[in-house]
Amino acid sequence: MIKPKESIKDLVPYVPGKPVEELERELGIKGSVKLASNENPLGTSPLALSAIKESVSNINRYPDGDSFYLKHKIAEKLGVKKENIILGNGSNEVIEIVARTYLTPDDEAIYANHAFIVYPIVTQSIGAKAVISPMKDLTHDLNDIYSKITDKTKIIFIANPNNPTGTIVKKNELRQFLKDVPQNVIVLMDEAYFEYVDDTDYPDTLEYHDIREGLITVRTFSKIYGLAGLRVGYGIASEKIVSYLNRVREPFNVNSLAQTAALAALDDDLHVQKSKELNSSEMRYLEDELSGIGLQFTKSYTNFILVNLKKDPTEIYNKLLNKGVITRPVGGYGLKTHLRVSVGLHAENKRFVDSLRKIVG
Ligand SMILES: Cc1ncc(COP(=O)(O)O)c(C=O)c1O
Repeated sequence: MIKPKESIKDLVPYVPGKPVEELERELGIKGSVKLASNENPLGTSPLALSAIKESVSNINRYPDGDSFYLKHKIAEKLGVKKENIILGNGSNEVIEIVARTYLTPDDEAIYANHAFIVYPIVTQSIGAKAVISPMKDLTHDLNDIYSKITDKTKIIFIANPNNPTGTIVKKNELRQFLKDVPQNVIVLMDEAYFEYVDDTDYPDTLEYHDIREGLITVRTFSKIYGLAGLRVGYGIASEKIVSYLNRVREPFNVNSLAQTAALAALDDDLHVQKSKELNSSEMRYLEDELSGIGLQFTKSYTNFILVNLKKDPTEIYNKLLNKGVITRPVGGYGLKTHLRVSVGLHAENKRFVDSLRKIVG
């Protein structure tokens, strides 16, 4: 038997939201709804869709390995230099590239007990030591994270908002934290849901890059831009950090259609606006209905909501599946009594609420 690395033995593979096709194949039904992967229910930016159609005939060619135009446009939009941008096959890959560039088996990485599950996966796959910080009220506890820093700490992962809790850390505490953390530690701020947040206390970490060199902001086109299937995300960091990340990056990691689509999506302010408006009105609808049913949920700043069923959610999850509604149990995130529900179109949310009421009511 050829032995894998010791560190990966306890790793649990990432469990994605159940695809609609899979459920429909299993149950022999049609017209089910997926509220399980925090995707944009309005779909892809129409500008991106038409751009892809025009460029699809060029896929016999390798993509631009430097993603010149896309980097240029992101940089222009964010007021940084092209050399400050690293692109990835989804923001997931950017997180992985950061870990592969900096973490060694002698290092420690800190992340919270209910943080995005990719942090344990990348940390353990490298064989670095995972240092787990308990959340407070399902929110990152920056004081606790700070107290766990040692000489061996190399990376701190923080998702803001966090998946699956939907909670945020706020401006003042984060600014202070970034000042306090030793300069030889990288703080990776994962802002996959950045565009959804409407709160004056929500920090835009691009404003904090002058506090420390070891700050990497990570964002994605998978969520509000509706490009999850094409896989494109990006990181913003100092030129020096980006130059190291680029050494580890696979040469053609962002495919040509993804580059084209993301470039066009950046021009589609209308789609972003409509997506935000739908999300906030439907979030209110879900909050009202869940309160009406008498279920407890965590206030969410993003496009999904975490419901505490106060018991193993498997039975309710399965009953919802039977009614054609796919949600997400989050036991893998250490939340054994919760269900995460993405905000969908009104009809989809209503179908979820009506089904849930029949099951628990
Ligand atoms: C907090 C967070 N970060 C990163 C990702 C990865 O997204 P992607 O690789 O599609 O950009 C996700 C996906 O759900 C997420 O929830």
